[in-house]
Amino acid sequence: MVQLARGTSGLRRWYRRAVAPFRATMQPMESQASADGRPIPTDTFGRAMRDLRISVTDRCNFRCTYCMPKEIFGRDYAFLPRDQVLSFEEIERVARIFVSLGVEKLRITGGEPLVRRDLPDLISLLASLRRPDGGEIDLTLTTNGSALRQLASPLADAGLKRVTISLDSLEDAVFGAMNGIDFPVARVLDGVAAAIEAGLAPVKINMVVRRGINESSILPMARWARETGVILRFIEYMDVGHSNGWRLDEVVPAAEIIDMLATVWSVESTEPSYLGEVAGRWRYQDGGGEFGVISSVTQPFCRDCTRARLSAEGRLYTCLFAVDGHDLRAPLRDGSSDSDVTGRIEAIWSRRGDRYSELRSAATTTLPKIEMFAMGG
Ligand code: GTP
Ligand code: 5AD
Ligand code: SF4
Ligand code: SF4
Repeated sequence: MVQLARGTSGLRRWYRRAVAPFRATMQPMESQASADGRPIPTDTFGRAMRDLRISVTDRCNFRCTYCMPKEIFGRDYAFLPRDQVLSFEEIERVARIFVSLGVEKLRITGGEPLVRRDLPDLISLLASLRRPDGGEIDLTLTTNGSALRQLASPLADAGLKRVTISLDSLEDAVFGAMNGIDFPVARVLDGVAAAIEAGLAPVKINMVVRRGINESSILPMARWARETGVILRFIEYMDVGHSNGWRLDEVVPAAEIIDMLATVWSVESTEPSYLGEVAGRWRYQDGGGEFGVISSVTQPFCRDCTRARLSAEGRLYTCLFAVDGHDLRAPLRDGSSDSDVTGRIEAIWSRRGDRYSELRSAATTTLPKIEMFAMGG
């Protein structure tokens, strides 16, 4: 395993050594076709579009310091007016088009997706979509868990397959400060229990790790996840958006987290479950299940990035760190045919050359990037 130099300048040196050679290896993938023989659009690096993350709202009941700091997103903040947000019918139509272009996974996000009224109705619409080869879509959702006690069952009944829940600590003082509204841990844990009861498996937990803020929660969270049977993923704090005041020295590198776990348990890396999986997979050798690390900062994974993002207002973003998107709402609302919309998406994707995490530098971190909650994390 890579031995990490600690401290900001050491990290920078390590980053240059680790990332520069990787960037040089970026090669186009071979051209691909869907099961029915129709060509799948690929971008300028030969990456297909497999995963669509759909934001159903830019609103959230939390104010996480790394995402929507309350000093900036206060009472006066202007969220999208209702008429600018895509309707469920519009989302279903555009999702169907994406599926015809090779998308196999639909992830519902926000903001906090569960604050969107009648969300199970959208899930029902999306659950009936089929891939061109007749296969099922992996239909999933990322949530802060606060409303899962009420919604886990209706969502599962509507056809949702699994959920990923964010939780950064088991300590109220730490979690309350990170979520910005003192939301209690116990209510998220109850949401996790509700998801497990509803069969939304595998339940995954996302923990954003920030140096000096919740590092001490890493081992307790790992212990809890092993006992509960959920898959915990440690996420390196990222410079998404431009409001969170991100600093490189607040990033706890994935390798350091793994070393910390390895002082308690024997762990080994394991194969990705699919090409381009965001999380690096690890397992406990004593049979205690698996965990993941999402190392977008120290070990970027752009090479296999097959993710597109659709914002609540219908803009298509081809990178989590994009500074601008492409309007799909206008063609959805001006009478354009499915074939027009399809052509537009194909054209956008075929011009894509994003690999932000590989290019990250002092200059790029300060770009006026779109906030993560606005585009669909
Ligand atoms: P699975 O479908 O279960 O593999 O989940 P996933 O890892 O694709 O989705 P999830 O929403 O849980 O993503 C976890 C986190 O990884 C996100 O919240 C982001 O913080 C980060 N992430 C996801 N996609 C990208 C990406 O394309 N680029 C970067 N840099 N980070 C990403
Ligand atoms: N860095 C890393 N992860 C983040 N998330 C939100 N903002 C950031 C950030 N700056 C995570 C949330 C949630 C998912 C949608 O994205 O914790 O799990
Ligand atoms: Fe809300 Fe998720 Fe952003 Fe936290 S990370 S403020 S829960 S959208
Ligand atoms: Fe994909 Fe952009 Fe993330 Fe790289 S930085 S993995 S291109 S979304």
